[in-house]
Amino acid sequence: MLLLGIDTSCDDTSCAVVADGQTVLSNVISSQNEYHGQFGGVVPEIASRRHVVSIEAVLREALDRAGCSRGELDGVAVTSCPGLIGSLVVGIAAAKSLAWAYRKPLVEVNHLQAHVYSGRLAAPELPYPHIALVVSGGHTIIYLVRGPLEMEMLGTTVDDAAGEAFDKVAKLLGLGFPGGPILSRLAADGDPQRYELPRPLLHSKDLDFSFSGLKSAARRIQEEEGERLNLHDFAASVQEAIVEVLLAKTFRAVEAARAQALVIAGGVAANPRLRTLAQQKSDRRGIMLSVPPMSLCADNGAMIAGLGYHLLLAGQRAEWSLNGQPTEYLSGKGEAWKAAL
Ligand code: KG4
Ligand code: ZN
Repeated sequence: MLLLGIDTSCDDTSCAVVADGQTVLSNVISSQNEYHGQFGGVVPEIASRRHVVSIEAVLREALDRAGCSRGELDGVAVTSCPGLIGSLVVGIAAAKSLAWAYRKPLVEVNHLQAHVYSGRLAAPELPYPHIALVVSGGHTIIYLVRGPLEMEMLGTTVDDAAGEAFDKVAKLLGLGFPGGPILSRLAADGDPQRYELPRPLLHSKDLDFSFSGLKSAARRIQEEEGERLNLHDFAASVQEAIVEVLLAKTFRAVEAARAQALVIAGGVAANPRLRTLAQQKSDRRGIMLSVPPMSLCADNGAMIAGLGYHLLLAGQRAEWSLNGQPTEYLSGKGEAWKAAL
């Protein structure tokens, strides 16, 4: 079964063709970083306009690389939520047109659920139930995952996402956008103990995160240190604070759920320090870790097509009136789990 997956939820235009929810035949991602860089963050109006410019070429390339024609597709899956509304509607319009013209079923996919599924896409042997940390520029969420379509949110950020914290600190230092890769490169030969940064909510009983205070603390240190600030040590210290909190809460969830596996997905999963420490902790606990390759970890169409397959099998079809939704409708925290922590 060949599914086309389209994701235009934020600033990447992506189309992919995936067979049977598992074999990625193509996964084309067109980044918009060069258009948002000067603003230090994603500008929604620019993002939607760039999607309009790119979508047809990205779609064509995805089909070409997969060696499949539009008529050979068995369905079209598209992200409908959450995301920037002006961005979402571009992908949805493309998906609807294609599905309508070629009489294919249209499937709507929750972008966050698809990020979770990317762990399984990268490692088909990954057992259920497992814990998934989805950590990106827009989200920092821990899920308990019972199946491709069955998951429960255990914790989320109460303010900024972890990727946003990286981006904001990099912006503060005038280093460019996106800040995560820049800071992690600088951090590679820095001393993570040099500057003292807070570990927000590290000891709180729940599995929620808070990263907005980190930016304020970073600004204070930057002002105090002035010219003396060592960028490598500073980047390493910021990175350490973020990674420590992310992993502490994630592994508390692993423990509480007695999970045998862990997925870390989303753009921040590219962080080498996060990957190394997550692997060490997983090995120590004897659990399986799936951190998908970057092409499946950041925003991509393959995870949408992958999860779309399971939705299609479950009989789900989107209406032609399908529209984008900026917020997710997958919330509702696992209240029962709070007691177990
Ligand atoms: O999933 P993603 O591509 O899409 C958005 O959420 O927009 O994630 C992008 C985020 C950005 O905040 C970026 O700074 C962060 O992921 N990121 C990283 C690294 N690479 C990307 N954060 C920390 N370390 C990295 N190496
Ligand atoms: Zn995403």
